[in-house]
Amino acid sequence: MEMSLKEDIVWKESYACWLQYERIKDSIWYDRYVSLCQNIAIIGDSSILHSALQELRKGLQSMFDKEPAIYDYESKKTSIIIGTYKHIHLQDYGLDKDAFEKMNEESYLIKAITNEEKESLLLIGKSDKGVLYATHHFLRLIQLRESLEQLDINESPKNQLRMLNQWDNMDASVERGYSGHSIFYENNQITQNLDRIKDYARLLSSVGINAISINNVNVWKVETKLITSEFLPDVAKIADIFRAYGIKIFLSINFASPIEIGQLTTADPLDPEVKKWWKEKAEEIYEYIPDFGGFVVKADSEHRPGPFSYNRDHADGANLLAQALDPFGGIVVWRCFVYNCLQDWRDRSTDRARAAYDHFKLLDGKFLDNVILQVKNGPMDFQVREPVSPLFGALEKTNQMMEFQVAQEYTGQQKDLCFLVPLWKEVLEFDTYARGKGSTVKKIVDGSLYNYTFSGICAVSNIGNDMNWTGHTLAQANLFGYGRLIWNPDLESEEIADEWIRSTFGHNPFVVKQIKQMLLDSWSIYENYTAPLGVGWMVNPGHHYGPNIDGYEYSVWGTYHFADRDGVGVDRTLETGTGYAGQYFSPNKEMYNALETCPDELLLFFHHVPYTYELKSGETVIQHIYNTHFKGVEQVKELIEKWTELQGKVDEVRFLNVLERLNLQLDNAEEWRDQINTYFYRKSGIMDEKNRMIYS
Ligand code: GCU
Repeated sequence: MEMSLKEDIVWKESYACWLQYERIKDSIWYDRYVSLCQNIAIIGDSSILHSALQELRKGLQSMFDKEPAIYDYESKKTSIIIGTYKHIHLQDYGLDKDAFEKMNEESYLIKAITNEEKESLLLIGKSDKGVLYATHHFLRLIQLRESLEQLDINESPKNQLRMLNQWDNMDASVERGYSGHSIFYENNQITQNLDRIKDYARLLSSVGINAISINNVNVWKVETKLITSEFLPDVAKIADIFRAYGIKIFLSINFASPIEIGQLTTADPLDPEVKKWWKEKAEEIYEYIPDFGGFVVKADSEHRPGPFSYNRDHADGANLLAQALDPFGGIVVWRCFVYNCLQDWRDRSTDRARAAYDHFKLLDGKFLDNVILQVKNGPMDFQVREPVSPLFGALEKTNQMMEFQVAQEYTGQQKDLCFLVPLWKEVLEFDTYARGKGSTVKKIVDGSLYNYTFSGICAVSNIGNDMNWTGHTLAQANLFGYGRLIWNPDLESEEIADEWIRSTFGHNPFVVKQIKQMLLDSWSIYENYTAPLGVGWMVNPGHHYGPNIDGYEYSVWGTYHFADRDGVGVDRTLETGTGYAGQYFSPNKEMYNALETCPDELLLFFHHVPYTYELKSGETVIQHIYNTHFKGVEQVKELIEKWTELQGKVDEVRFLNVLERLNLQLDNAEEWRDQINTYFYRKSGIMDEKNRMIYS
């Protein structure tokens, strides 16, 4: 179908994402809700409560086409009552103050109260933030057409830090950004368009995000100055916006700042002058932003400076910053993405997958209490399939958090559809056996397994200044799903997809069904036509889109597949390989180490096997490669068919945007299929059993 986006298009729906608040046209639902949604009383006064009220007004006005009236709580006239437990007369509703006292600061209650004269709905937060979350939850219930009768909801987030990392640079570029330019910066300045940032804050708070770092982990020259008086007044304006939505801001810093902006000759973490410099720097930052979250640090990683230059270790480096932030309650998020990125491909003893564990395991217990180690979900780098990083569970005495990537760097770059919630869910459900059965990753990152002081989950954001935020409209589901899942990792992927579709596209059952199927199948489809059986990479170097099977094979990056005429895969076993499998707790160690028990989908991550090796599925490796690559392309065609059936059922802008992306995805999938199949046919000389077209 030949179509392209027109100039005079209406972007309203694309921009609003899941906060559509579409007018309720179904009179049954309208009548059920409307009487309750006309009057509001809010008790208390703060920027967060103000946001809660604004959200409520905006949402209700839009869905009911009438402005709700705002009453004084004491007038007792109202039907929606919002405030913190300290302000609301709990005894009037038979509620117990002690129960609130025990709750987490971000918790809330939504409760329907019916007495003879009228119905009311209480939205009570433990704190102002709780009130804001309750408000969003309430609006979501209406968007999802849930009954409000007899509501009695008591919610607390499972994870403490729920963070996004922007990889934005001040020249407006976004590292691994696939949706336009930065919404935070332009021309090496902080943007004046704060409205867009406010809209971003609204979206994030609606799914419970409570922290954001606003610049790239690679901190270049200008960005190093974000912590100076040149930029701090503007950073403070951004902090004000996010604060009103319950979100703390963080900055990524350059470890060499004392040299670059401080006129010192060293950044040695044990040098007294350096310590003094960071202490004063922290004091200065907190003068501008009293609730500043802290620093995110990429040190001694991919050529960024760090403590290694001074023969110090990561604990020395992180503790230096932690001491400076501690008096103000700030924290250091120290990244564990540390490996040798100048490897010689001839050297078979070095294994990049081992690196994070080898660097950080030995330092367990040496970090101060306000340091959190941020660990990527897998040992390599956000591939479509990787095992869970063995560092989860290995650090008993050091705060730890998960790093996911919502940006689809290796999962289709927001051209290809890849709904990532099922992937993240699998990671969070993984049993590390660190303290015996049941030691799941979600219990590690929520802090409960080891009683961490700080813990949580962060992820690289996928937004930019494209009108629909994420380039591919359906990639909005990843941002939404990320927030919802880390609030409550027990939610099912399907539930999250369902919520997102209804909030974003409405309730037409056919639309919901089609999109849900597309989302839920998409990760496996993407995996089918890209690198097989967990081996990873095989992408074009640099930008990482599209196939290039040997693109990284003889490079310095430590990302090899070792395909030869007999077989393929990386031997990471204890006996003959790099020993990486030994970094897991038993029985995972044995499971991955033995060919017989290693799961098919990770076979080539752990083992080098002949092409004729038979998988548990009964297929040989080579036949599996051919089958999945042919199938992947057919599945993309089915995605296109499914979407095409929605023409006229979703607005034209979003319809065309997705269709355009799906067509790009098809080109990509075909290229992957043909390059992979031809490559392995040429290497192995083994024909496809089904005699399909493989170019020789
Ligand atoms: C990947 C990514 C880089 C990024 C790095 C990181 O390697 O390609 O762009 O800087 O991860 O997480 O630090």
